[in-house]
Amino acid sequence: MSDSSPSVIKGWMVFAAVLVAVLAIGLLLSSILERRAEGAQRQRVLQPVARWESDSSKWAANWPREYASWKATEQSDTATKYGGSTMRDLLAEDPHNVILFAGYPFSKDYNQARGHQHAVADVMATGRDIDGTKGNSPGKPGTCWTCKSPDVPRLMAEMGPAKFYDTPAKDLTPEIKHNIGCADCHDPATMALAISRPALVEAFERQGKDITQVSHQEMRTLVCAQCHVEYYFKKDEAKGQKAYLTFPWDKGMGVEEMDAYYDEKQFTDWTHPISGAKMVKMQHPDYEVYSKGIHAYRNVSCADCHMPYKTEGGQKFTDHQIRSPLTNISNSCAVCHRWGEAEIRGRVETIQDKILEGRIRAEEALAKAHFDIAACKQAGATDEELAEVRKLVRKAQLRWDYVAANNGLGFHAPQECQRILAAAADLGQQCRLAAARVLAKHGVTDPVVYPDWSSKEKAQALIKLFGKDGTPPKLIAAAK
Ligand code: HEC
Ligand code: HEC
Ligand code: HEC
Ligand code: HEC
Repeated sequence: MSDSSPSVIKGWMVFAAVLVAVLAIGLLLSSILERRAEGAQRQRVLQPVARWESDSSKWAANWPREYASWKATEQSDTATKYGGSTMRDLLAEDPHNVILFAGYPFSKDYNQARGHQHAVADVMATGRDIDGTKGNSPGKPGTCWTCKSPDVPRLMAEMGPAKFYDTPAKDLTPEIKHNIGCADCHDPATMALAISRPALVEAFERQGKDITQVSHQEMRTLVCAQCHVEYYFKKDEAKGQKAYLTFPWDKGMGVEEMDAYYDEKQFTDWTHPISGAKMVKMQHPDYEVYSKGIHAYRNVSCADCHMPYKTEGGQKFTDHQIRSPLTNISNSCAVCHRWGEAEIRGRVETIQDKILEGRIRAEEALAKAHFDIAACKQAGATDEELAEVRKLVRKAQLRWDYVAANNGLGFHAPQECQRILAAAADLGQQCRLAAARVLAKHGVTDPVVYPDWSSKEKAQALIKLFGKDGTPPKLIAAAK
């Protein structure tokens, strides 16, 4: 028998197979041991963090990359066409806002949002006067602090949410030391995403939805929905609550459902001094508007666009510099859309340009509607005669504000925003038609004489004339 007999070849093959197997097992073992060592090291390095540690720098030792990128939300010098992280004076850019918010603090000061690192300072600086030290307001309830700081869940854990809300904001100010941070979104024991604000949990509970049972992908949106939503301060005499933070979602998150909710509660934020209408201020229904858009439909989360992955030193992690995605298009959008950067920016800006056109059209109708109602009063119309007309301007402005107050200038749900702006403009014009009929009944058929509100300064001086000590300009031509 020769050496190349089948049994010898078989023998060599078995030997080779055993060799490969032994090598593979060895490699596997060494890799497991290495990982264990790494794991042990990681565990050794991990500093325990208390459940409600509001100082994000105490979390930094464990998660330096996330911390460093979180800190970068300080950056305040990036402007995009309509957004970015700069101070933007929305009253100077668009004086219609002054007229629409007359009698409400937003007519004094209305800036566009900046990065999370500025949350506390920006709300302290605004002329809307949270703790009543600027003489613009008698001071606000603690509720106003709810979406500004991780000191809030810490305090709520100590005093309970109801007591927190009803404590005057100025009494809490010394305790609010940190800007939006790790404890707002994470449980430090597991680093899982966690909801720290009761209002979101309660709003879903009333709809029969338990948000402790949602998917991981949904949590990547819900952590943002704790703050980026429409809300109001609910007064509940029976419970002795003055300003309990509540999301008006019991009938749904669309603008018509919120309108019906507020009507049913007979809720108003303020009475408009020009028209005498009882108004509702929308806050920033970012989550609600987003929910109506194509990206929500396709299960793309807030974090997918605003907190994309980033790689540094071979490590992939979540970029915590939450900001306009237009300052980070390659990571934020181009991972899904294989369009060039210029095209992506162009598509966003085109959507925003169109929304702005619809928004301004609604504003013109609304501002004139307020003056038309004032003209009716000057012509001698009674509150009873104006009840329906005032309801129309309330409904129109609530719709406009749902779009205007939401961030991103309509990008999150373009069709829905255009639909609502069309409804706002239509209701605004219906209001003006109804006011014209009231005027005609009082013998006024000449057009209303509108004053000039073409700049922030002119508009602010004008609305003062409709205040307690002012004399409003004559809006109807002298009787012939
Ligand atoms: C498909 C990507 C995408 C998703 C998903 C998304 N956004 Fe945006 N967001 C954008 C774009 C684009 C803008 C416009 C930025 C600009 O104009 O500079 C924007 C703007 C914003 C702004 C204003 C930022 C600025 O600089 O003007 C906020 C706040 C915001 N989004 C919050 C959210 C929240 C909260 C969610 C989830 C409920 C969300 N976004 C979901 C893409 C997205
Ligand atoms: C605890 C409340 C809170 C949470 C949670 C929160 N935000 Fe914000 N966000 C704010 C406030 C308040 C501002 C405005 C800060 C300012 O203008 O000083 C803001 C501003 C922003 C801006 C504007 C940034 C800029 O540079 O212009 C974006 C974008 C944003 N948030 C997105 C998100 C996303 C996405 C999430 C979830 C991953 C989220 N936020 C979670 C409260 C919150
Ligand atoms: C506004 C909410 C928000 C804040 C504030 C926040 N995170 Fe996150 N964080 C997220 C989201 C969303 C993810 C992605 C989670 C996922 O998909 O599992 C994440 C992921 C992480 C992860 C997992 C690893 C990774 O990079 O994906 C770590 C660790 C982490 N964050 C640390 C921190 C630290 C430290 C801070 C404070 C300096 C912080 N986070 C502040 C929302 C937040
Ligand atoms: C996680 C994936 C993902 C990310 C990230 C993402 N998109 Fe999309 N986008 C989609 C999907 C899916 C659709 C829907 C496509 C469809 O159904 O035809 C879509 C649709 C769109 C559309 C078309 C909308 C319409 O109504 O026709 C635009 C514009 C768009 N995205 C822009 C952006 C921009 C800008 C960003 C970054 C800020 C972004 N997307 C980030 C997945 C994503």
